[in-house]
Amino acid sequence: MALTVSEAIAQRRATRQYKDAPIPDETLDLIVNNALEAPSAFNAQMRDLVVVRDQAVKQAIFDASGQQQFLDAPVVFVVVGRSEVVPEDAEEILGAELTEKVRGFNGSASAAKLREIGIRDAMLVAGFLLLAAQEQGLSTSPTTGWNEDGVKKAIGLEARDDRSIALVIAAGYADEHPEHPGRAINRRVDDKY
Ligand SMILES: Cc1cc2nc3c(=O)[nH]c(=O)nc-3n(C[C@H](O)[C@H](O)[C@H](O)COP(=O)(O)O)c2cc1C
Repeated sequence: MALTVSEAIAQRRATRQYKDAPIPDETLDLIVNNALEAPSAFNAQMRDLVVVRDQAVKQAIFDASGQQQFLDAPVVFVVVGRSEVVPEDAEEILGAELTEKVRGFNGSASAAKLREIGIRDAMLVAGFLLLAAQEQGLSTSPTTGWNEDGVKKAIGLEARDDRSIALVIAAGYADEHPEHPGRAINRRVDDKY
């Protein structure tokens, strides 16, 4: 039986050791589709999800990070922010009027602000993905410990200033069961600081 959202949240742990076992295509498709259901500003979807199964691409991500899980896990997801004013295909889903609104909103943004806009949309996809994978019995390793230019080069985005890397996530069947590392108890703020 599928996990509830609460169960998926409770069971998810950052996992760095994986069995040498492939993820069935239907399972992978479901996880990717669920992750891409994440909301985005204006529904402009200023993010992409790169599904890496090619061992040479995984090797290049390992080279950019030194993190072994990218070599061992059957799949590595690279969550990419689209740091651009408006995606070229935006009109297909938004229509002309809303596309112009997005262009107006983002057109005056600095490069740093555009990067932030893409990273925000991308991080929601990443969060959805962690739970969607957990629901399917997979474990995940979310990471930011890599060289961004190296990861971009690995996935064919070399010298692309209109793309940024939000999170790289290894995923597969766990070969370890990490303990809950604990959480700070004072991170909730009611109403005001
Ligand atoms: C933004 C972010 C970056 C992270 N970067 C790395 C990383 O580079 N390598 C790694 O092994 N774990 C990384 N982690 C995993 C965290 O260490 C882990 O999520 C944290 O210790 C809490 O453990 P839990 O996920 O099991 O609750 C990262 C997690 C997040 C959310």
